[in-house]
Amino acid sequence: MDEIYLDKIRKEARNNHIPILLDETMEYVLDLLKKRQINSVLEIGTAIGYSASCFTKILQPNGYVDTIEIEEQRVNEARDNIEKLGLSEKINVYYGDALDILPTLISKNKKYDFIFIDASKGKYLEFFNFALELLNDNGIIIADNVLYKGMVLSDYNGHKHRTAVTKLRKFIEYIQNIVGMTSEIIDIGDGISITYKRKEEELNGTKG
Ligand SMILES: C[S@@+](CC[C@H](N)C(=O)[O-])C[C@H]1O[C@@H](n2cnc3c(N)ncnc32)[C@H](O)[C@@H]1O
Repeated sequence: MDEIYLDKIRKEARNNHIPILLDETMEYVLDLLKKRQINSVLEIGTAIGYSASCFTKILQPNGYVDTIEIEEQRVNEARDNIEKLGLSEKINVYYGDALDILPTLISKNKKYDFIFIDASKGKYLEFFNFALELLNDNGIIIADNVLYKGMVLSDYNGHKHRTAVTKLRKFIEYIQNIVGMTSEIIDIGDGISITYKRKEEELNGTKG
Protein backbone atom coordinates (compact mmCIF):
# COMPACT_ATOMS: atom_id res chain seq x y z
CA MET A 1 0.00 0.00 0.00
CA ASP A 2 1.28 3.43 -0.94
CA GLU A 3 1.13 5.12 2.50
CA ILE A 4 2.10 8.50 1.03
CA TYR A 5 -0.86 8.44 -1.34
CA LEU A 6 -3.16 7.21 1.45
CA ASP A 7 -2.06 10.17 3.57
CA LYS A 8 -2.75 12.49 0.62
CA ILE A 9 -6.34 11.15 0.45
CA ARG A 10 -6.71 11.67 4.20
CA LYS A 11 -5.48 15.27 4.01
CA GLU A 12 -7.58 16.07 0.93
CA ALA A 13 -10.70 14.73 2.65
CA ARG A 14 -10.02 16.85 5.73
CA ASN A 15 -9.32 19.97 3.64
CA ASN A 16 -12.55 19.46 1.68
CA HIS A 17 -14.66 18.77 4.79
CA ILE A 18 -15.37 15.20 3.76
CA PRO A 19 -16.06 13.43 7.05
CA ILE A 20 -13.65 10.50 7.14
CA LEU A 21 -12.89 8.31 10.14
CA LEU A 22 -10.91 10.07 12.87
CA ASP A 23 -7.33 8.84 13.34
CA GLU A 24 -7.85 7.59 16.90
CA THR A 25 -10.96 5.66 15.87
CA MET A 26 -9.18 4.13 12.89
CA GLU A 27 -6.28 3.04 15.09
CA TYR A 28 -8.67 1.48 17.63
CA VAL A 29 -10.73 -0.33 14.98
CA LEU A 30 -7.67 -1.70 13.14
CA ASP A 31 -6.19 -2.95 16.43
CA LEU A 32 -9.43 -4.74 17.22
CA LEU A 33 -9.70 -6.27 13.75
CA LYS A 34 -6.08 -7.46 13.72
CA LYS A 35 -7.00 -9.92 16.48
CA ARG A 36 -9.65 -11.52 14.27
CA GLN A 37 -9.50 -13.40 10.97
CA ILE A 38 -11.08 -10.94 8.56
CA ASN A 39 -11.72 -12.19 5.04
CA SER A 40 -14.66 -10.05 4.08
CA VAL A 41 -15.61 -6.48 4.94
CA LEU A 42 -18.79 -4.57 4.12
CA GLU A 43 -18.77 -0.81 4.54
CA ILE A 44 -21.85 1.43 4.37
CA GLY A 45 -20.57 4.93 3.49
CA THR A 46 -17.46 4.96 1.28
CA ALA A 47 -16.96 8.73 0.84
CA ILE A 48 -13.71 8.84 -1.17
CA GLY A 49 -12.42 5.41 -0.18
CA TYR A 50 -10.19 6.31 2.76
CA SER A 51 -11.47 3.89 5.40
CA ALA A 52 -12.10 1.11 2.86
CA SER A 53 -8.43 1.36 1.83
CA CYS A 54 -7.28 1.30 5.46
CA PHE A 55 -9.33 -1.84 6.12
CA THR A 56 -7.38 -3.74 3.47
CA LYS A 57 -4.40 -3.61 5.88
CA ILE A 58 -6.00 -6.18 8.20
CA LEU A 59 -7.42 -8.50 5.53
CA GLN A 60 -6.38 -12.13 5.22
CA PRO A 61 -4.49 -12.76 1.92
CA ASN A 62 -7.60 -13.38 -0.20
CA GLY A 63 -9.80 -10.94 1.65
CA TYR A 64 -11.86 -8.15 0.10
CA VAL A 65 -13.91 -5.06 0.93
CA ASP A 66 -17.35 -4.24 -0.48
CA THR A 67 -18.31 -0.63 0.13
CA ILE A 68 -21.46 1.36 -0.70
CA GLU A 69 -21.73 5.06 -1.55
CA ILE A 70 -24.81 7.04 -2.57
CA GLU A 71 -23.11 10.11 -4.14
CA GLU A 72 -21.91 9.58 -7.69
CA GLN A 73 -19.04 12.06 -7.50
CA ARG A 74 -17.70 10.39 -4.36
CA VAL A 75 -18.00 6.96 -6.00
CA ASN A 76 -15.88 8.21 -8.90
CA GLU A 77 -13.31 9.75 -6.57
CA ALA A 78 -13.21 6.61 -4.44
CA ARG A 79 -12.68 4.36 -7.46
CA ASP A 80 -9.94 6.65 -8.71
CA ASN A 81 -8.18 6.67 -5.32
CA ILE A 82 -8.51 2.90 -4.98
CA GLU A 83 -6.98 2.39 -8.41
CA LYS A 84 -4.08 4.73 -7.61
CA LEU A 85 -3.47 2.78 -4.41
CA GLY A 86 -3.38 -0.45 -6.43
CA LEU A 87 -6.36 -1.82 -4.48
CA SER A 88 -8.90 -2.33 -7.29
CA GLU A 89 -8.65 -6.10 -6.89
CA LYS A 90 -9.47 -5.87 -3.19
CA ILE A 91 -12.16 -3.18 -3.01
CA ASN A 92 -15.47 -3.12 -4.83
CA VAL A 93 -17.42 0.17 -4.67
CA TYR A 94 -21.19 -0.11 -5.10
CA TYR A 95 -22.93 3.05 -6.28
CA GLY A 96 -26.39 3.57 -4.79
CA ASP A 97 -28.45 3.85 -1.65
CA ALA A 98 -27.36 1.22 0.84
CA LEU A 99 -31.02 0.62 1.63
CA ASP A 100 -31.43 -0.61 -1.96
CA ILE A 101 -28.11 -2.45 -2.25
CA LEU A 102 -28.11 -4.31 1.08
CA PRO A 103 -31.20 -6.42 0.19
CA THR A 104 -29.51 -7.45 -3.08
CA LEU A 105 -26.46 -8.66 -1.11
CA ILE A 106 -28.77 -10.61 1.21
CA SER A 107 -30.51 -12.24 -1.75
CA LYS A 108 -27.06 -13.33 -3.02
CA ASN A 109 -26.40 -14.95 0.40
CA LYS A 110 -23.34 -12.76 1.00
CA LYS A 111 -21.80 -12.93 4.48
CA TYR A 112 -19.16 -10.67 6.01
CA ASP A 113 -16.73 -10.93 8.93
CA PHE A 114 -16.78 -7.19 9.58
CA ILE A 115 -19.51 -4.69 8.75
CA PHE A 116 -18.83 -1.00 9.21
CA ILE A 117 -21.74 1.47 9.34
CA ASP A 118 -20.69 5.05 8.58
CA ALA A 119 -23.47 6.73 6.57
CA SER A 120 -26.58 8.80 7.37
CA LYS A 121 -27.16 8.65 11.11
CA GLY A 122 -30.94 8.69 10.79
CA LYS A 123 -30.86 5.31 9.05
CA TYR A 124 -28.52 3.37 11.36
CA LEU A 125 -31.26 1.09 12.64
CA GLU A 126 -32.28 0.10 9.11
CA PHE A 127 -28.66 -0.42 8.05
CA PHE A 128 -28.04 -2.45 11.20
CA ASN A 129 -30.96 -4.82 10.64
CA PHE A 130 -29.70 -5.58 7.15
CA ALA A 131 -26.18 -5.95 8.56
CA LEU A 132 -27.40 -8.59 11.03
CA GLU A 133 -28.56 -10.72 8.11
CA LEU A 134 -25.23 -10.27 6.35
CA LEU A 135 -23.02 -11.07 9.34
CA ASN A 136 -20.99 -14.26 9.66
CA ASP A 137 -21.38 -16.19 12.92
CA ASN A 138 -18.08 -14.85 14.23
CA GLY A 139 -18.58 -11.46 12.66
CA ILE A 140 -18.54 -8.01 14.16
CA ILE A 141 -20.54 -4.85 13.35
CA ILE A 142 -19.10 -1.43 14.15
CA ALA A 143 -21.05 1.81 13.74
CA ASP A 144 -19.31 5.20 13.86
CA ASN A 145 -20.61 8.52 15.25
CA VAL A 146 -23.06 6.86 17.65
CA LEU A 147 -22.35 9.47 20.35
CA TYR A 148 -22.60 12.31 17.81
CA LYS A 149 -20.38 15.01 19.34
CA GLY A 150 -21.45 13.99 22.84
CA MET A 151 -25.09 14.89 22.21
CA VAL A 152 -26.50 11.37 22.31
CA LEU A 153 -25.67 10.63 25.96
CA SER A 154 -26.21 14.23 27.12
CA ASP A 155 -29.57 15.90 27.79
CA TYR A 156 -29.38 17.59 24.36
CA ASN A 157 -32.86 18.55 23.20
CA GLY A 158 -32.03 21.25 20.63
CA HIS A 159 -33.89 21.59 17.39
CA LYS A 160 -31.02 21.36 14.90
CA HIS A 161 -29.87 17.81 15.55
CA ARG A 162 -32.96 16.48 17.31
CA THR A 163 -33.91 13.89 14.68
CA ALA A 164 -30.42 12.40 14.37
CA VAL A 165 -29.86 12.42 18.15
CA THR A 166 -33.25 10.81 18.88
CA LYS A 167 -32.64 8.14 16.27
CA LEU A 168 -29.14 7.40 17.57
CA ARG A 169 -30.49 7.10 21.12
CA LYS A 170 -33.03 4.56 19.86
CA PHE A 171 -30.30 2.79 17.90
CA ILE A 172 -28.10 2.40 20.99
CA GLU A 173 -30.99 1.11 23.07
CA TYR A 174 -31.99 -1.31 20.32
CA ILE A 175 -28.57 -2.87 19.77
CA GLN A 176 -28.04 -3.33 23.50
CA ASN A 177 -31.19 -5.42 23.78
CA ILE A 178 -30.83 -7.96 20.99
CA VAL A 179 -31.09 -11.51 22.26
CA GLY A 180 -27.90 -13.45 21.59
CA MET A 181 -25.81 -10.38 20.77
CA THR A 182 -23.47 -8.23 22.83
CA SER A 183 -23.05 -4.52 22.11
CA GLU A 184 -20.59 -2.08 23.65
CA ILE A 185 -20.39 1.66 23.21
CA ILE A 186 -16.84 3.01 23.17
CA ASP A 187 -16.25 6.69 23.80
CA ILE A 188 -13.52 7.18 21.25
CA GLY A 189 -13.56 9.76 18.46
CA ASP A 190 -17.23 10.46 17.81
CA GLY A 191 -18.25 7.26 19.59
CA ILE A 192 -18.47 3.77 18.13
CA SER A 193 -20.70 0.80 18.84
CA ILE A 194 -19.33 -2.71 18.60
CA THR A 195 -21.75 -5.63 18.21
CA TYR A 196 -21.04 -9.34 17.97
CA LYS A 197 -22.80 -12.62 18.61
CA ARG A 198 -22.55 -14.00 22.11
CA LYS A 199 -20.56 -17.18 22.50
CA GLU A 200 -22.42 -20.44 23.28
CA GLU A 201 -21.01 -20.65 26.83
CA GLU A 202 -22.22 -17.12 27.60
CA LEU A 203 -25.68 -17.95 26.27
CA ASN A 204 -25.77 -21.08 28.46
CA GLY A 205 -24.87 -18.98 31.48
CA THR A 206 -21.55 -20.72 32.12
CA LYS A 207 -19.59 -17.53 31.50
CA GLY A 208 -20.02 -13.80 32.05
C1 LIG B 1 -18.87 9.74 7.05
S1 LIG B 1 -18.83 9.53 5.33
C2 LIG B 1 -17.95 8.01 5.13
C3 LIG B 1 -16.50 8.13 5.47
C4 LIG B 1 -15.68 6.90 5.15
N1 LIG B 1 -16.22 5.72 5.78
C5 LIG B 1 -14.25 7.10 5.64
O1 LIG B 1 -14.03 7.09 6.86
O2 LIG B 1 -13.36 7.26 4.78
C6 LIG B 1 -20.46 9.03 4.99
C7 LIG B 1 -20.76 8.72 3.53
O3 LIG B 1 -21.98 7.97 3.48
C8 LIG B 1 -22.66 8.34 2.31
N2 LIG B 1 -24.08 7.95 2.50
C9 LIG B 1 -25.03 8.60 3.22
N3 LIG B 1 -26.18 7.93 3.16
C10 LIG B 1 -25.98 6.82 2.41
C11 LIG B 1 -26.80 5.75 1.97
N4 LIG B 1 -28.09 5.68 2.31
N5 LIG B 1 -26.25 4.79 1.20
C12 LIG B 1 -24.94 4.85 0.84
N6 LIG B 1 -24.10 5.86 1.22
C13 LIG B 1 -24.61 6.83 1.98
C14 LIG B 1 -22.42 9.83 2.20
O4 LIG B 1 -22.61 10.29 0.88
C15 LIG B 1 -20.98 9.95 2.67
O5 LIG B 1 -20.07 9.96 1.61
